[in-house]
Amino acid sequence: MHRPFDTAAQSQRFSQPSIGAAGPAFGAAFSAGIGAVNGSALRDMLRMAQVPGMVNFGGGLPAPDLFPMDRIAQASARALEQYGWRAVQYGTTEGFLPLREWLAAYTCPGMGGVTPEHIQIMTGGQQSLDLIAKIFIDPGDTVLLETPTYMGAVQSFTPYRPNFAAVPTDEHGIDMDALEALLRDLAMQGRTPKFIYTIPNFQNPTGRTLSLERRERLLDLTTQYGVFVVEDDPYGQLRFSGDDLPSLAELMLRRTGGNPDRSHVVYCSSFSKTLAPGLRDAWVMAARPITDKLVLAKQGADMHTPTLNQMIVTELLPLLPEQVDKLRHSYAARARHMLAALDRELPPGVSRTTPEGGMFLWLTLPEQVSTTAMLPRAVERRVAYMIGECFHALGGGHNTMRLCFSTAGPEDIDRGITALAQTIREELAGEVDTRS
Ligand SMILES: Cc1ncc(COP(=O)(O)O)c(C=O)c1O
Repeated sequence: MHRPFDTAAQSQRFSQPSIGAAGPAFGAAFSAGIGAVNGSALRDMLRMAQVPGMVNFGGGLPAPDLFPMDRIAQASARALEQYGWRAVQYGTTEGFLPLREWLAAYTCPGMGGVTPEHIQIMTGGQQSLDLIAKIFIDPGDTVLLETPTYMGAVQSFTPYRPNFAAVPTDEHGIDMDALEALLRDLAMQGRTPKFIYTIPNFQNPTGRTLSLERRERLLDLTTQYGVFVVEDDPYGQLRFSGDDLPSLAELMLRRTGGNPDRSHVVYCSSFSKTLAPGLRDAWVMAARPITDKLVLAKQGADMHTPTLNQMIVTELLPLLPEQVDKLRHSYAARARHMLAALDRELPPGVSRTTPEGGMFLWLTLPEQVSTTAMLPRAVERRVAYMIGECFHALGGGHNTMRLCFSTAGPEDIDRGITALAQTIREELAGEVDTRS
C-alpha cells in the first residue's frame, strides 16, 4: 500500500536543499521562461529621463499635456454616480458590455458581423500580447517577428519559450518576398509558424506603415501557409498625413463576407495612446474560438479589467473624435519640427524614416557607429534616445535608434537634435569603430 509520509528515511530521501543563512537560492528557483527575458531597456530609459535638463527622445510616452484631465474627472464622477457599487464590484471577464458593443461597431466600421462576443477587453495592449502568447505558444513553436519590432511584445512572448524567426522590413513594412521565402523554407522543414506579429500603422519603433498592396499580400501568404496574424494597432488613429488604410482585420473581414469567425487575424488596439495609458484599457477583436480562449487566459491573469476604468472610458467615448484630432494636430507639428531639425543638423550618411502618424521615427547611422556605445556620450550632452538593438530580438540594428517626438516642445526638440547631431558628428570624426 502507498503511504506518502512514511518513515524518516523516506522523507530524507525526498528532502529539498534547505534555505541557508544567505537566504533562498533565487537564481535556481526561477523558470527558464522568465530567465530568457532580457532586462528592460525601457526602465533604464525612464531612469535616465530623471536627470535635470535631459531631452529624452527615448521614452515612448504619450504627451501628458494633452491628456483630457477635466473630462476624465467628470467621467469618473458620472460613472460612480450612474453605476454606484457596480463600478467597484467584480465584473465579467469579457468586459463591460456597453464598451464591447461600441467597440464591435467601431473597430471595423460597417462590418455588421462583428458582435460583442468578438471583443475582449484587456488591461492594456500589453496584456493582450501576453494572453495571446499564453493561448497560442507551446515551447518550441515558431513565432515570426517583423524586424525591428516592439520590444514589449518580445518580452511578453519570450516566457512561453517560442523560437523567433525574424522577417526583414523596408520603408513600406514587411518585405513580402522575404516572408514568402521564409514560409517556404519553414514548410520544407515541416514547421508552420503559430503567428506573425506585426504593427502595420506607424510602427513602433520605425514609424513606418505597411502599404495596402503588402497588407493584401500578407493575408494571401498567411492564408496559404496557415499562419495566424497578430495585428497590433495602438497608433492607427493617430494619422497626420497621407490616406487612412484599412486594417488587416478589416481586409480579412471583407474576404470572409463579414464573418469574423472565419478570420485568422487577431486585432489588438488600446485607449493608451488616444485617451490615457494609466487607464489600462485595451481590446482584442478576434474569432469566437479565440476570444473564448482569451477569456480563460484572462480569468487566470486578473479576472477582469478594472470595472470603473472601463466605465470611465465608456463615458469618454463621445469625446474620442475631438481628442484624436487634437493629438493628430499636435503630433503632426512636433514630428514636422523634429524632421526639419534632423534635416538641418544631421551629417551626411544618416538616414531617417518619414512617419505619417504615431509617435516615432527611426535613424540609421553609418555602419561603423554603435548607438549603444554612443549613448553615454549623448547623455553627457543631455539628450537620450532608444538604442536600436533592443528592437532586434535576434541581434542586429547596432547602428540604429528610435526617436520619440510626442512629448518634446519645439525648443527641446531643437536643443536635443543639435546635441544628438554633434554627438554623431564627433563619433564619425573620431572614426572609432565602436562596435564590440
Ligand atoms: C506596439 C505597441 N503595442 C502595445 C503597447 C502597449 O500599450 P498599452 O499596454 O499601454 O495599451 C505599446 C506601448 O507602447 C506599443 O507600442
